[in-house]
Amino acid sequence: MSVAVPARRADPDAPAPEALWEERVQRAAHPVAYPALRSARNRPVVRVPRIGVVVSDAELAREVLLDLDHFSKVGPGAPSDLWTPVLGPSVLLNMEGAEHAVLRRALGPLFSPRAVRELVAADGDRGAGVLPDLTRRLAAGETVDLAEAVSAQAGAVICGMVGLPPTDEAVRSSMAAAQTITGMVRLHRHGLTRPQVAQARSVLERLTAPARAAYRAGDPATVPGRMRDLGLSEREAMGAVGAFVLTGTETIQSLVPRLVAIAHDTGWTARLLADDARLRRRAVEEGLRVTVPTPAMLRSVRADTSVGGVPVSAGDRVVIATVNCCRAGGGFDPDRSIEPAVRHLWFGAGPHFCLGMPLAMAQVDAVLDALAAAATDGLVPVVGRRRAARAVLVPSYSSLEIGLRSADGSPNLVQASARTWEAS
Ligand code: HEM
Repeated sequence: MSVAVPARRADPDAPAPEALWEERVQRAAHPVAYPALRSARNRPVVRVPRIGVVVSDAELAREVLLDLDHFSKVGPGAPSDLWTPVLGPSVLLNMEGAEHAVLRRALGPLFSPRAVRELVAADGDRGAGVLPDLTRRLAAGETVDLAEAVSAQAGAVICGMVGLPPTDEAVRSSMAAAQTITGMVRLHRHGLTRPQVAQARSVLERLTAPARAAYRAGDPATVPGRMRDLGLSEREAMGAVGAFVLTGTETIQSLVPRLVAIAHDTGWTARLLADDARLRRRAVEEGLRVTVPTPAMLRSVRADTSVGGVPVSAGDRVVIATVNCCRAGGGFDPDRSIEPAVRHLWFGAGPHFCLGMPLAMAQVDAVLDALAAAATDGLVPVVGRRRAARAVLVPSYSSLEIGLRSADGSPNLVQASARTWEAS
């Protein structure tokens, strides 16, 4: 496959199209918190009123994530404030120490290469699955909304986790349920309000009802059934299912369309979809580095100490601005090597490093394979109209139209689509 023509810029000093779109995606999600976080980017550590002690330096971020004596995910301002009232006290992301390590070890086999392959393939096995459909429609010359397709695929994976057959209705309502809950979170608020907690619990109860039934039936073909086989109590299993749904859906929905959009805007699409695993891995990692689907990580200070020379006291909130740490290295450029301190920081570091990384990578690969299968005969998917999602926790596109065009003569749709977005 030949290389796609990069979008041409009339003014070389103007911000690159991919940077402009990324900025729009971020600001549409968090019009207040994102500018506040970014304003801290030139200081390694700084106290920002209402938000916390913001860390924007990758090495210092790692120090915090690895210093378990002074920083915790449990305590004032930490994820436990947000999630314990909704998910209960033992769902990995609000645990520390030996109990956390035991639960992680127990859940590990669910993310083995074989287990994640099966979860991701379950959708395609239905024959009329989302990704085979994506390939068919693109190859037939249709314009497809990639954001919608990725959302349906992520929803199908949730259905697999909670033990539901992935019917269209089940997929839609699973995604809507996950988004209802995550959409309540705001960086400047430390927890959810009482009515929000009540609503989140009832949404989650409905979503995980089939998981509870699958756990009780103990069917090892289902994820909840396997959790029972792995020795998890019903409470732990339901908490884990809830945590997976909340951490593992919007991140994928965020990453994949943004990666494809960035590849389009920088002329990388053909290389991203080429039959070259190493090149694809680099482009995906670079996509993760510049999109940072989890833009911040929260910790509570357990005991007085300092971060990069800034004193912090027990009870303070530390906000690791992963988006600042990762993007300090500049714009999307898979040919450049990644600083060791930044490498994989988008998945965290230390004992809470993303448990779902293998599933995330398998989902990304599945979508890219579906696009590559359509992109034959010198054609590549190019991006048409797009729209950034508003008031969501994880910045993303609510719509990203793609269609196949010739790789060497594709029309430059970037500016046309930017105008459409501005007009909408
Ligand atoms: C591109 C996709 C993803 C990104 C960028 C991402 C990022 C992260 C990050 C940064 C953390 C650490 C947070 C912290 O230390 O405060 C984390 C933890 C976690 N992630 Fe992911 N994640 C992704 C996809 C997934 C998926 C698909 C799942 C599947 C269920 C998942 C499950 C989890 C879980 C359970 C944790 C908590 C682990 C623990 O506390 O021990 N993630 N993720």
